[in-house]
Amino acid sequence: MAQVIHSIPELQKWSMDAKKQGKTVGLIPTMGFLHEGHLSLIDTARKNGADAIAVSIFVNPTQFGPNEDYDCYPRDFERDKALCESKDVDVIFAPAVNDMYAGDLTCWVQEEKISKGLCGLTRPIHFRGVTTVVAKLFNAALPDLAVFGQKDAQQAAVIKRMVRDLNFPVKIVVSPIIREESGLALSSRNKYLSEDEKQRALSISRSLHQAKAELENSQIDPETARLLVKESISAAGGIVDYVEVLDAETMLPRESPAVKHITIAVAAVFGKTRLIDNIQIKMR
Ligand code: PAF
Repeated sequence: MAQVIHSIPELQKWSMDAKKQGKTVGLIPTMGFLHEGHLSLIDTARKNGADAIAVSIFVNPTQFGPNEDYDCYPRDFERDKALCESKDVDVIFAPAVNDMYAGDLTCWVQEEKISKGLCGLTRPIHFRGVTTVVAKLFNAALPDLAVFGQKDAQQAAVIKRMVRDLNFPVKIVVSPIIREESGLALSSRNKYLSEDEKQRALSISRSLHQAKAELENSQIDPETARLLVKESISAAGGIVDYVEVLDAETMLPRESPAVKHITIAVAAVFGKTRLIDNIQIKMR
């Protein structure tokens, strides 16, 4: 049985006790409505040595813009709890909004470079909310390591930078994207897609994989790959927010063509659902 903890002092105590017993505390921050992608983060935490595992389930209001889906974001705590228990999670941390945020909060954590482009352009307050809540979750769970998904590649890069710049004693592990057999990257927001939108959204993963194959065989250059992805998604009726070729380490534009480890990152809207995806490529 996983222990469900709602209060920050109780979670801090659990973590400190686990460490006193010589355990390595792993934190998997989530907003719940768990799927195989989240469960793979738990496996990654264990592979990286975590033997006391906390999963946080908290739909974080500060990372949603005023017209975004905070109110209707899917929630199913009992299902999430059963899934965590199937993975032998030790603790589920499920705070209430007013346990996490004082009504008169005036301190924020803000990364000021990596968070500005890509999703930061259309979601201007999003990453400030993410870095603030992740910093608070680190202070609550006191983890030795925390696992984030590669699907949110910009988020992972922003969090790594926060940890580096603010000296959090937490190892950040980034776990690979988990896809449906069709290629669609798993996301809690896939629930919003109709069957037709889901089929058309496959243009994202298909074109990313095609671009990767052609780039790795030196058949095309990165700009041609970018256009290939963009045009494939548009042809399938997706509204492209961005398709960018980036330095895979920083998620910033490549400083020079000598940077061979790249990520092609995508955000596109199908129907009313904004999807993100990316692929990493090692060019010759
Ligand atoms: O990736 C997510 O689900 C969220 O952005 C996170 C990291 C749990 C912070 O709310």
